[in-house]
Amino acid sequence: MQLTEAQKSKVEDLLNQMTLEEKIGQMNLESPSIVGGFEVPFEELIEMMTDGRISQEEFQRIMSEATRDFHEDDIRAGRVGSMMVDDPRKNNELQKIAIEESRLGIPLIIGFDVIHGFRSVYPIAIAEAGTFDEELFERTAHMAAKEARAHGINWTFAPMIDVARDARWGRVSEGPGEDTYLGTCFAKAKVRGLQNQTENSQEYVAACLKHYVAYGACESGRDYNTTNMSMSQLHNVYLPTFKAAVEEGAATVMASFNDLNGVPCTVNPYTLRTVLKGLYKFPGFVVSDANGIKECVVHGIAEDDADAGEQAINAGLDMDMGTNIYKDHLANLAESGKVTMDTINDAVRRILSVKVWLGLFENPYVPEEIMQQYEEDRLPGEHVSITLEAAQKSIVLLKNDDQILPLSRSQKISLVGELAGNAEEVCGAWAMSWKRENCVSILAGLKNAGADVNYFPCGGPEGNINEEEISKATEDCDVIVAVVGELISMSGEASSKANIELPGKQREMLKRLVASRKPVVTVLMNGRPLALDWEAENLPVIVESWHLGIQMGTAVASVLFGDVNPSGKLSSSFPSVSGQCPIYYNHPSTGRPGSKSKFTSRYLDAPFDALYPFGYGLSYTTFAYDDMKVTEGNDELQVTVDVTNTGAVAGTETVQLYMQDVTGSIVRPVKELKGFIKLELKVGEIKKAMFTLKKQDMGFYDNDSNYLLEDGLFRIYVGGNSRECLCEEIRITF
Ligand code: GLC
Repeated sequence: MQLTEAQKSKVEDLLNQMTLEEKIGQMNLESPSIVGGFEVPFEELIEMMTDGRISQEEFQRIMSEATRDFHEDDIRAGRVGSMMVDDPRKNNELQKIAIEESRLGIPLIIGFDVIHGFRSVYPIAIAEAGTFDEELFERTAHMAAKEARAHGINWTFAPMIDVARDARWGRVSEGPGEDTYLGTCFAKAKVRGLQNQTENSQEYVAACLKHYVAYGACESGRDYNTTNMSMSQLHNVYLPTFKAAVEEGAATVMASFNDLNGVPCTVNPYTLRTVLKGLYKFPGFVVSDANGIKECVVHGIAEDDADAGEQAINAGLDMDMGTNIYKDHLANLAESGKVTMDTINDAVRRILSVKVWLGLFENPYVPEEIMQQYEEDRLPGEHVSITLEAAQKSIVLLKNDDQILPLSRSQKISLVGELAGNAEEVCGAWAMSWKRENCVSILAGLKNAGADVNYFPCGGPEGNINEEEISKATEDCDVIVAVVGELISMSGEASSKANIELPGKQREMLKRLVASRKPVVTVLMNGRPLALDWEAENLPVIVESWHLGIQMGTAVASVLFGDVNPSGKLSSSFPSVSGQCPIYYNHPSTGRPGSKSKFTSRYLDAPFDALYPFGYGLSYTTFAYDDMKVTEGNDELQVTVDVTNTGAVAGTETVQLYMQDVTGSIVRPVKELKGFIKLELKVGEIKKAMFTLKKQDMGFYDNDSNYLLEDGLFRIYVGGNSRECLCEEIRITF
């Protein structure tokens, strides 16, 4: 987000004309007051829609009703600067009131959760991150920005860039996985895609980096729980995605619910003022997460709402989402001198800068022709193909014994599992604006692909299994495709689980299918890594297909039939059992690294390492790595390796570069991802992967938050996952 000199003076000019009430109005994001018989908070309404208590249509009816009485007088009086509405006609109406009927005509900034697509929903982030495809990350975000803007949304509460290492946390589904480097590449690409400022302001929105910060480190994987860590852990693992995205020009940041080392991030002067606005020189504005300021009273850091509001604004929180605490208390706090006008002016300047940068003063409305385009049920063809491409590239082949896959269309398939036939479950958590008719279930995808398929629901993530149906499914077929996993409502916000095995009786269902001795292809449809010890031991084929968005069925069918060779990798480690969580590849060695010997870092009743590690994913072909070389330049290392397609079909391999700082003034991880390259290889083809690792990137933050480059021995790794790698050692003097 860069402002021209003219834009900066426009901001100053507006600021100088504003009354205190108008300034405070800009700092107030009204979340919908729900009417129409649902007097419940917005978040609960989302939950009701997600777990099916109300339909998508009902949700949208209530939302448009809710905005009917959207404090229109407050907007006229300049007491509302921002809202959350996804209806373009309603947004045009409300913008018109703000621009034509308020004293200064400042347009509204209108935010909404567009996390992985708006109408054209693409894979959940944990899946898309596994494509390791930065150009794709950017393209899907740009598509989402265009669709959001076409609905009057000019600010999206995305990307979610919380590094997360504990699959018990439901929100692992929303973020880029366990690795900081992959997370920074994802974060930067998403900011570029969302904020790709062009002359045509119908093509970009303000991004919102969330949740700042370390929300994914919630203790025990329990959502909203406390987080505690050293300064080195904060600066080495959780802050870098935000630092990188701020450097990429992100316009806004959302503070997270969690307390960090005892101070809730909503009122945390260190993370907000010292780091974000100080060290990182962040020029945009910070918004609280829903209700975040009020919750500081419950956290026990504020006596009451006014105290919470005072701490929040003084800590550097510029906009209040949904509590009205700034609206109700800031004027008094300013008059009493507890909050200075400089502090308030700084917040308002940041908010106005984003609005000016968004072109809202020149183009605040959604043009009629753009609205009509989306009012028909057909989506732009280019968007459907992007969602399909992202879905196909996100699929991870975990196991394929005896090359059961790919299937042939002449094989008679028994498709088993309730999830397979349910198109309403393909989009995953935090997708609220899709239309049922645009969603392709796995059953529909197989049928469209010309499969000879019979469908037997047999059972799903909830309730019992149908024994009779299971036995029918195992007769008269050549192969069984079993789709198991999680409902949308089982991941995302407020969906932490202590047991992350397949929910319901799905494992029992799989046992009966395996007992039939027919080949079983298991397709996982889930929002988090699952604990798959029995499955990995007993199932011949496991395909991780996550929640892939509207084109899920088409993508899964294309991979099962081999029209597409799977190339996805895991952005998060999978445990064998839930008790291993948190589990991740980039851990310190400890003095007794886990092994089979007793007195080492291990469990008596479970493996010590991941079932499937970060970066892992098979292909229908095989790849060989050799001739790795590391050469040292003045400021960087050059790392090369030859990769050969040694199998029978063309395929794409994600070559991964890792490093280990073997001895440091604080212990460093056994491996850290430092680069990746995707190679498309024909049968028998050899390509050289060439990496440049800057020496400046080989350091780390110590517990005084100093970035250190320490001479010593380094191990450099290259491979197709974080476990099986070639390695070269090199001693470096910086
Ligand atoms: C939620 C989420 C946040 C979302 C916000 C607005 O509670 O934590 O990710 O953007 O509310 O819906």
